[in-house]
Amino acid sequence: MEQNKDLIQFDIPIAKRTYFNNSNSILKKKLLILSPFLLLLFSVFALRLIRNVEIGSLDNSNFQVLINHDHRILGHLPYAEIPKEKLVLIDPNIEVHVDMRDSLIKMRNEAKKDGVFLVFLSGYRSINLQNEIFYSLKSFRNQEAAERARVSAPPGYSEHSTGFAIDIGDATQRETDFETKFENTDAFKWLIKNAAKFHFKLSFSKDNKFIDYEPWHWRYEGSIEALKVFESSNRKF
Ligand code: DAL
Ligand code: ZN
Repeated sequence: MEQNKDLIQFDIPIAKRTYFNNSNSILKKKLLILSPFLLLLFSVFALRLIRNVEIGSLDNSNFQVLINHDHRILGHLPYAEIPKEKLVLIDPNIEVHVDMRDSLIKMRNEAKKDGVFLVFLSGYRSINLQNEIFYSLKSFRNQEAAERARVSAPPGYSEHSTGFAIDIGDATQRETDFETKFENTDAFKWLIKNAAKFHFKLSFSKDNKFIDYEPWHWRYEGSIEALKVFESSNRKF
């Protein structure tokens, strides 16, 4: 009996649980469950925001920097001179890059089959010759550099020095040589329709801001070397 009394007096602590069954705690629980998804959603949103800001700044300041630093002078890009061993003679006084010889000759032959007679006016020009053209000949015309550059590239900036450029005329209308009216000849009309088949492209179209329209001036883009040479020129901003 004495032992029983002791047991009764011994105070055993009982864990108390409180259940909050109100709406606040339900909301907290839901938020806890949803938190990984909310975090994911937030991360995606933040990443998109950062990306848009980066693109936006490239579109404005960096874009301007790229344009201003592509090494153009008066609208002309720099071009290295082709090594002599890559030059081949295709007509008297007309040398071109060996890569484009076959395509160019083929193009002339195909035009002939259609009754159109292409004549090659100017191919490779050394940087020295370009220097003569730009500084000596054009200065007789009392032209400022920017005016000269509309029709002739400064030395080191001509596609002709790469060996991949060719000026083409119509053998039946030589009075149109190097003239805008060449665009009215059968030769030009044939070229516009067919030149791309032979990997030739008009270099100076009517929409060029700095350089005058030259319907006679075509460049070859049918080899990796040629594509590399004209990569900057073909890059669109
Ligand atoms: N006539 C072109 C622009 C040149 O001189 O290369
Ligand atoms: Zn030319």
